[in-house]
Amino acid sequence: MSQRLDITGLTSGYGRIDVLHDLSVSMGIHGNVGLFGPNGHGKTTLLRTVSGLIKPSKGSIAFNGVELSTLTPRAIVELGLIHVSQGNRLFPDLTIGECLSLGAFTKAARGREEASREEVLRIFPKLGERWRQKVRTLSGGERQMVSIGTALMSCPKMLVLDEPTLGLAPKIKEELCIAVMRISKQGVPLIVVEQDVEFLLELSNHLYLINHGEIAAEIKPGQSLDHAEIMSLYFGK
Ligand SMILES: Nc1ncnc2c1ncn2[C@@H]1O[C@H](COP(=O)(O)OP(=O)(O)OP(=O)(O)O)[C@@H](O)[C@H]1O
Ligand SMILES: [Mg+2]
Repeated sequence: MSQRLDITGLTSGYGRIDVLHDLSVSMGIHGNVGLFGPNGHGKTTLLRTVSGLIKPSKGSIAFNGVELSTLTPRAIVELGLIHVSQGNRLFPDLTIGECLSLGAFTKAARGREEASREEVLRIFPKLGERWRQKVRTLSGGERQMVSIGTALMSCPKMLVLDEPTLGLAPKIKEELCIAVMRISKQGVPLIVVEQDVEFLLELSNHLYLINHGEIAAEIKPGQSLDHAEIMSLYFGK
Protein backbone atom coordinates (compact mmCIF):
# COMPACT_ATOMS: atom_id res chain seq x y z
CA MET A 1 0.00 0.00 0.00
CA SER A 2 1.35 3.43 -0.83
CA GLN A 3 1.68 5.83 2.07
CA ARG A 4 0.73 9.45 2.01
CA LEU A 5 1.19 12.43 4.25
CA ASP A 6 -1.03 15.43 3.56
CA ILE A 7 -0.19 18.68 5.31
CA THR A 8 -2.64 21.54 4.92
CA GLY A 9 -2.39 25.12 6.16
CA LEU A 10 0.12 24.23 8.86
CA THR A 11 1.20 26.98 11.25
CA SER A 12 3.56 25.92 13.99
CA GLY A 13 6.43 27.18 16.10
CA TYR A 14 7.64 27.80 19.63
CA GLY A 15 5.56 29.78 22.13
CA ARG A 16 4.15 32.79 20.38
CA ILE A 17 6.69 32.68 17.56
CA ASP A 18 5.48 30.98 14.39
CA VAL A 19 8.17 29.25 12.34
CA LEU A 20 5.94 27.55 9.76
CA HIS A 21 3.39 29.77 8.06
CA ASP A 22 0.30 28.21 6.47
CA LEU A 23 2.40 25.46 4.89
CA SER A 24 0.71 22.93 2.62
CA VAL A 25 2.38 19.94 0.98
CA SER A 26 1.58 16.31 0.16
CA MET A 27 4.30 13.70 0.42
CA GLY A 28 4.70 10.01 -0.26
CA ILE A 29 2.44 9.65 -3.29
CA HIS A 30 5.38 9.75 -5.70
CA GLY A 31 7.80 7.89 -3.40
CA ASN A 32 10.67 9.54 -1.55
CA VAL A 33 10.69 13.26 -0.86
CA GLY A 34 13.72 15.46 -0.21
CA LEU A 35 13.54 18.68 1.78
CA PHE A 36 16.28 21.28 1.71
CA GLY A 37 16.77 24.92 2.55
CA PRO A 38 18.83 27.39 4.53
CA ASN A 39 19.60 26.90 8.23
CA GLY A 40 16.93 27.96 10.69
CA HIS A 41 14.08 28.15 8.18
CA GLY A 42 11.85 25.47 9.68
CA LYS A 43 12.81 22.05 8.26
CA THR A 44 13.26 20.43 11.68
CA THR A 45 10.22 22.29 13.03
CA LEU A 46 8.14 20.77 10.22
CA LEU A 47 9.34 17.24 11.01
CA ARG A 48 8.84 17.73 14.76
CA THR A 49 5.31 18.97 14.18
CA VAL A 50 4.51 16.01 11.93
CA SER A 51 5.72 13.54 14.56
CA GLY A 52 3.73 15.21 17.36
CA LEU A 53 6.64 16.70 19.32
CA ILE A 54 5.28 20.21 18.66
CA LYS A 55 1.58 20.94 18.48
CA PRO A 56 0.57 23.16 15.55
CA SER A 57 -1.50 26.26 16.20
CA LYS A 58 -3.37 25.79 12.91
CA GLY A 59 -3.78 23.31 10.11
CA SER A 60 -4.04 19.62 9.49
CA ILE A 61 -1.58 16.72 9.12
CA ALA A 62 -3.10 13.52 7.78
CA PHE A 63 -1.20 10.25 7.49
CA ASN A 64 -3.11 7.83 5.26
CA GLY A 65 -6.21 9.83 6.13
CA VAL A 66 -5.69 9.77 9.93
CA GLU A 67 -5.39 13.21 11.55
CA LEU A 68 -2.11 13.40 13.50
CA SER A 69 -2.21 16.87 15.02
CA THR A 70 -4.22 15.74 18.06
CA LEU A 71 -2.29 12.50 18.62
CA THR A 72 0.63 11.85 20.98
CA PRO A 73 4.10 11.10 19.51
CA ARG A 74 3.68 7.51 20.75
CA ALA A 75 0.39 7.08 18.88
CA ILE A 76 1.98 8.50 15.73
CA VAL A 77 4.84 6.00 15.98
CA GLU A 78 2.26 3.21 16.34
CA LEU A 79 0.78 4.31 13.01
CA GLY A 80 4.17 3.62 11.43
CA LEU A 81 5.43 7.17 10.92
CA ILE A 82 8.95 7.06 12.38
CA HIS A 83 11.15 10.14 12.77
CA VAL A 84 14.93 10.02 13.27
CA SER A 85 15.82 13.36 14.91
CA GLN A 86 18.58 15.68 13.82
CA GLY A 87 21.75 15.05 15.86
CA ASN A 88 20.78 11.50 16.93
CA ARG A 89 19.47 11.37 20.47
CA LEU A 90 20.37 8.03 21.99
CA PHE A 91 20.80 6.75 25.54
CA PRO A 92 24.60 6.88 25.97
CA ASP A 93 24.86 3.96 28.39
CA LEU A 94 22.94 1.44 26.32
CA THR A 95 24.71 -0.99 24.02
CA ILE A 96 23.91 -1.13 20.31
CA GLY A 97 21.91 -4.33 20.89
CA GLU A 98 19.87 -2.73 23.68
CA CYS A 99 19.13 0.37 21.59
CA LEU A 100 17.87 -1.70 18.69
CA SER A 101 15.62 -3.75 20.97
CA LEU A 102 14.05 -0.52 22.27
CA GLY A 103 12.97 0.27 18.71
CA ALA A 104 10.85 -2.87 18.54
CA PHE A 105 8.24 -1.63 21.03
CA THR A 106 5.39 -0.95 18.59
CA LYS A 107 2.58 -3.46 18.15
CA ALA A 108 3.58 -4.05 14.52
CA ALA A 109 7.23 -4.65 15.49
CA ARG A 110 6.97 -6.93 18.50
CA GLY A 111 6.51 -10.25 16.73
CA ARG A 112 9.10 -9.38 14.08
CA GLU A 113 12.04 -8.38 16.26
CA GLU A 114 14.39 -11.13 15.13
CA ALA A 115 13.71 -10.59 11.41
CA SER A 116 14.02 -6.81 11.78
CA ARG A 117 17.34 -7.18 13.60
CA GLU A 118 18.74 -9.35 10.81
CA GLU A 119 17.56 -6.78 8.31
CA VAL A 120 19.24 -3.92 10.21
CA LEU A 121 22.51 -5.88 10.40
CA ARG A 122 22.36 -6.57 6.66
CA ILE A 123 22.09 -2.83 6.05
CA PHE A 124 24.61 -1.85 8.76
CA PRO A 125 27.04 -4.79 9.22
CA LYS A 126 29.24 -2.56 11.41
CA LEU A 127 26.58 -2.64 14.14
CA GLY A 128 26.90 -6.42 14.38
CA GLU A 129 30.68 -6.16 14.83
CA ARG A 130 30.14 -3.77 17.77
CA TRP A 131 26.99 -5.30 19.21
CA ARG A 132 27.95 -4.95 22.91
CA GLN A 133 29.62 -1.57 22.60
CA LYS A 134 28.01 1.33 24.46
CA VAL A 135 26.58 4.16 22.41
CA ARG A 136 28.74 6.80 24.09
CA THR A 137 31.88 5.14 22.76
CA LEU A 138 30.71 5.14 19.13
CA SER A 139 31.71 7.55 16.39
CA GLY A 140 29.17 10.03 14.98
CA GLY A 141 28.61 7.87 11.91
CA GLU A 142 28.07 4.73 13.97
CA ARG A 143 25.58 6.57 16.19
CA GLN A 144 23.65 7.66 13.13
CA MET A 145 23.56 4.00 12.03
CA VAL A 146 22.16 3.04 15.45
CA SER A 147 19.53 5.81 15.21
CA ILE A 148 18.35 4.71 11.77
CA GLY A 149 18.62 1.02 12.74
CA THR A 150 16.46 1.63 15.84
CA ALA A 151 13.86 3.35 13.66
CA LEU A 152 13.87 0.36 11.28
CA MET A 153 13.22 -1.94 14.25
CA SER A 154 9.85 -0.17 14.67
CA CYS A 155 8.73 -1.46 11.23
CA PRO A 156 8.13 1.96 9.70
CA LYS A 157 5.53 2.57 7.02
CA MET A 158 7.19 5.92 6.35
CA LEU A 159 10.64 6.94 7.58
CA VAL A 160 11.55 10.56 8.26
CA LEU A 161 15.28 11.39 8.47
CA ASP A 162 16.51 14.80 9.62
CA GLU A 163 20.01 15.44 8.22
CA PRO A 164 21.30 11.87 8.51
CA THR A 165 24.77 12.78 7.24
CA LEU A 166 25.28 16.01 9.19
CA GLY A 167 28.87 16.49 10.32
CA LEU A 168 30.15 13.17 8.96
CA ALA A 169 33.47 12.71 7.18
CA PRO A 170 33.14 11.97 3.42
CA LYS A 171 33.88 8.22 3.63
CA ILE A 172 31.36 7.46 6.38
CA LYS A 173 28.86 9.83 4.77
CA GLU A 174 29.11 7.81 1.55
CA GLU A 175 28.54 4.61 3.52
CA LEU A 176 25.43 6.08 5.13
CA CYS A 177 24.04 7.39 1.83
CA ILE A 178 24.38 3.90 0.34
CA ALA A 179 22.55 2.43 3.35
CA VAL A 180 19.72 4.98 3.03
CA MET A 181 19.40 4.11 -0.69
CA ARG A 182 19.20 0.44 0.24
CA ILE A 183 16.43 1.11 2.79
CA SER A 184 14.54 3.02 0.14
CA LYS A 185 14.81 0.10 -2.32
CA GLN A 186 13.01 -2.09 0.21
CA GLY A 187 9.90 -0.02 -0.36
CA VAL A 188 9.75 2.18 2.75
CA PRO A 189 9.02 5.72 1.51
CA LEU A 190 11.44 8.26 2.92
CA ILE A 191 11.20 11.93 3.79
CA VAL A 192 14.74 13.20 4.07
CA VAL A 193 16.05 16.61 5.09
CA GLU A 194 19.58 17.17 3.78
CA GLN A 195 21.85 20.03 2.87
CA ASP A 196 23.44 17.82 0.22
CA VAL A 197 21.02 18.36 -2.64
CA GLU A 198 23.02 16.07 -4.95
CA PHE A 199 22.35 13.18 -2.57
CA LEU A 200 18.66 14.15 -2.34
CA LEU A 201 18.39 14.08 -6.13
CA GLU A 202 19.89 10.60 -6.18
CA LEU A 203 17.37 9.44 -3.59
CA SER A 204 14.29 11.20 -4.81
CA ASN A 205 12.80 12.87 -7.84
CA HIS A 206 10.59 15.11 -5.74
CA LEU A 207 12.20 17.90 -3.75
CA TYR A 208 10.91 20.91 -1.85
CA LEU A 209 12.81 24.01 -0.83
CA ILE A 210 11.77 25.33 2.59
CA ASN A 211 12.43 28.99 3.07
CA HIS A 212 11.05 31.23 5.84
CA GLY A 213 8.72 28.46 7.01
CA GLU A 214 7.06 28.06 3.63
CA ILE A 215 7.42 25.83 0.58
CA ALA A 216 9.37 28.22 -1.63
CA ALA A 217 9.98 25.92 -4.61
CA GLU A 218 9.25 22.41 -5.82
CA ILE A 219 11.33 20.16 -8.06
CA LYS A 220 8.80 17.77 -9.55
CA PRO A 221 9.28 14.18 -10.73
CA GLY A 222 10.54 14.28 -14.31
CA GLN A 223 11.94 17.80 -13.98
CA SER A 224 15.70 17.76 -14.32
CA LEU A 225 17.77 20.55 -12.88
CA ASP A 226 21.50 20.98 -13.05
CA HIS A 227 23.68 21.96 -10.13
CA ALA A 228 23.75 25.66 -11.09
CA GLU A 229 19.94 25.83 -11.26
CA ILE A 230 19.60 24.26 -7.83
CA MET A 231 22.12 26.68 -6.38
CA SER A 232 20.21 29.61 -7.82
CA LEU A 233 17.00 28.26 -6.27
CA TYR A 234 18.80 27.97 -2.97
CA PHE A 235 20.56 31.30 -2.88
CA GLY A 236 18.37 33.34 -5.23
CA LYS A 237 19.48 34.57 -8.64
N1 LIG B 1 13.15 24.82 21.00
C1 LIG B 1 13.08 25.99 20.37
N2 LIG B 1 12.60 27.10 20.99
C2 LIG B 1 12.50 28.29 20.34
N3 LIG B 1 12.88 28.47 19.04
C3 LIG B 1 13.36 27.40 18.38
C4 LIG B 1 13.48 26.11 18.99
N4 LIG B 1 14.00 25.26 18.08
C5 LIG B 1 14.18 25.97 16.95
N5 LIG B 1 13.80 27.26 17.12
C6 LIG B 1 13.85 28.33 16.10
O1 LIG B 1 12.97 27.98 15.04
C7 LIG B 1 13.53 28.37 13.79
C8 LIG B 1 13.57 27.18 12.84
O2 LIG B 1 14.45 26.20 13.37
P1 LIG B 1 14.58 24.75 12.72
O3 LIG B 1 15.39 23.95 13.66
O4 LIG B 1 13.25 24.25 12.35
O5 LIG B 1 15.40 25.08 11.39
P2 LIG B 1 16.10 24.12 10.34
O6 LIG B 1 15.62 24.58 8.98
O7 LIG B 1 15.90 22.71 10.69
O8 LIG B 1 17.63 24.53 10.49
P3 LIG B 1 19.00 23.65 10.35
O9 LIG B 1 19.25 23.54 8.87
O10 LIG B 1 20.02 24.48 11.02
O11 LIG B 1 18.77 22.34 11.03
C9 LIG B 1 14.90 28.97 14.09
O12 LIG B 1 14.76 30.36 14.11
C10 LIG B 1 15.22 28.44 15.48
O13 LIG B 1 16.02 29.35 16.21
MG1 LIG C 1 17.18 21.21 11.26
